[in-house]
Amino acid sequence: MTNIALITGITGQDGSFLAEFLLSKGYEVHGTIRRSSVDFRERIMHLEGAPHFHLHYADLGDSMSIIQVLNKVRPTEIYNLAAQSHVQVSFDSPEFTADVDATGVLRILEGVRQCGLAKTCRIYQASTSELYGKVEEVPQNENTQFHPYSPYAVAKLYGYWIVKEYREAYNMYCCSGILFNHESERRGETFVTRKITLAAARIAQGKQDKLYLGNLSSLRDWGYAKDYVECMWLILQHETPEDFVIATGVQHSVREFCQLAFHHVGIELEFKGEGADEKGIDKTTGKVIVEVSEDFYRPTDVVNLLGDPTKAKAKLGWNPAKTSFEELVKIMVEADIVKVAAEVAGEKVRTNLVEYLEKGIVK
Ligand code: NAP
Ligand code: GDD
Repeated sequence: MTNIALITGITGQDGSFLAEFLLSKGYEVHGTIRRSSVDFRERIMHLEGAPHFHLHYADLGDSMSIIQVLNKVRPTEIYNLAAQSHVQVSFDSPEFTADVDATGVLRILEGVRQCGLAKTCRIYQASTSELYGKVEEVPQNENTQFHPYSPYAVAKLYGYWIVKEYREAYNMYCCSGILFNHESERRGETFVTRKITLAAARIAQGKQDKLYLGNLSSLRDWGYAKDYVECMWLILQHETPEDFVIATGVQHSVREFCQLAFHHVGIELEFKGEGADEKGIDKTTGKVIVEVSEDFYRPTDVVNLLGDPTKAKAKLGWNPAKTSFEELVKIMVEADIVKVAAEVAGEKVRTNLVEYLEKGIVK
C-alpha cells in the first residue's frame, strides 16, 4: 500500500524539507496551501508538477476546508506543521495565534475522526520547546514541567494536550514532537538566526550598514531543520504513539551566533557595553556593526532553552549531532552570501540596461 502523507504548512521551512524527504521515501505527498496576493511558494516551487506531489487549498481556521481535504486525500500520515509560528507576532495577534495554533489542532484531530480515518491515519503535531518557556529546569526533557511564556506558547500547549487527550480518549495514533529551535537557509527572514546571516551577507557586500537586534543574551539549542524533519517521520514510524524532545543538547547565545556568522564574512566582532547599550564592533575598523533596539524586546522572553534528546536517541536511533552549530551557521551564511550576490548582480544588470537604453545601444 502506498503511504499517503498530508502536510499542513508545506510552504514553510519545515514543510518544504519534509516534503522532499517523504518524496525520497516513495510517499504520495499532499500539502495544504493558502491563497495569498503575493507569491508564497518559493520553498516548494521546485516540487510543483512532480508526479507524486499535490497541493490543496485549506486553512487551519476553516474546518470545512480541512474536512474536504481529508476526505479527498484519505492520508495515512498527517504532519500538522501549519501555525502562526512567530513568537513576537503572537503578542500582536494573540487571538489569531490561538485560533490556528490551538483550535487548529483540534480541527485536524476531530476532522480525522469525522472522516473515519481514526484507525488508519497517524498524526504528528509540531509542538515546541517554547512550552518550557520560563524554564523550571535545565536541560529540558519529556518530563520537565511546562511554563509557557507567550501567547504562542500557550496556544501550542493546548495543541499538545488535545493531542494527548485524543490519543487516550479515542486510542488514536497521534503524538507531539517537542522540537527545539531548528534553522536553515530556508528559515523565515524575521527569525533571529536568518536575520543575522542575511545581515552579515548584506553588510559584507555593502548593501546594509548595521544590524539591530533585541536580547543578545538569550540562549537557544539550535539544530539544522533538515535533520529535524527526519525525526518527525521517525516519530510516526515508532511502534507506539509517544511524545519526543528533539534537540541537539548544545546551547549558544544570540551574541555567539552573531560572532560566528560575521566571522564567516571576514568580520571579527567584539561586544562592548551592557543591555540596550551593548554594541558589536568590528575589531579591525572599530565600526559599530550591531546595535540593540528595544523594538525587538518581548513583553516576556524565553531565555534559557537547552534540550535533552536522550529519549529520541535511544528509542528512535536519531543522531542529534549530525549537523553541528558551526556547520549550521556556515550553511546559512554561505547561502545568504550567494543570495545577496545574485541581488547585487541583478541590480548591476538593471543599471546597465537603463544606461544602454539611454545611450540608444539597445532599443
Ligand atoms: P514557518 O516557516 O513559519 O511555516 C509555517 C507554515 O504554516 C507556513 O506554511 C504557513 O503558510 C502555514 N500557516 C500559517 N497559518 C496557517 C493557517 N491559518 N492555515 C494553514 N496554514 C497556515 O514555520 P516552521 O519553522 O516551518 O515550523 C513548522 C511548525 O513547527 C510550526 O507549527 C512551528 O510552530 C513549529 N515549530 C518550529 C520550530 C522551529 O524552530 N522552526 C520549533 C518548534 C516548533 P503560509 O506560507 O501561507 O504563511
Ligand atoms: N526574532 C528575533 N529578532 N529574535 C531576537 C532578536 C531579533 O531581532 N534579537 C534577539 N532575539 C531573541 C528573541 O528574544 C529570542 O529570545 C531569541 O532571539 C530567538 O528568537 P526567534 O529566532 O524569533 O525564535 P524563537 O525561539 O522565539 O521561536 C522559534 O523557535 C521556537 C522553538 O523554541 C520559532 O521557530 C517558534 O515557532 C518555535 O516554536
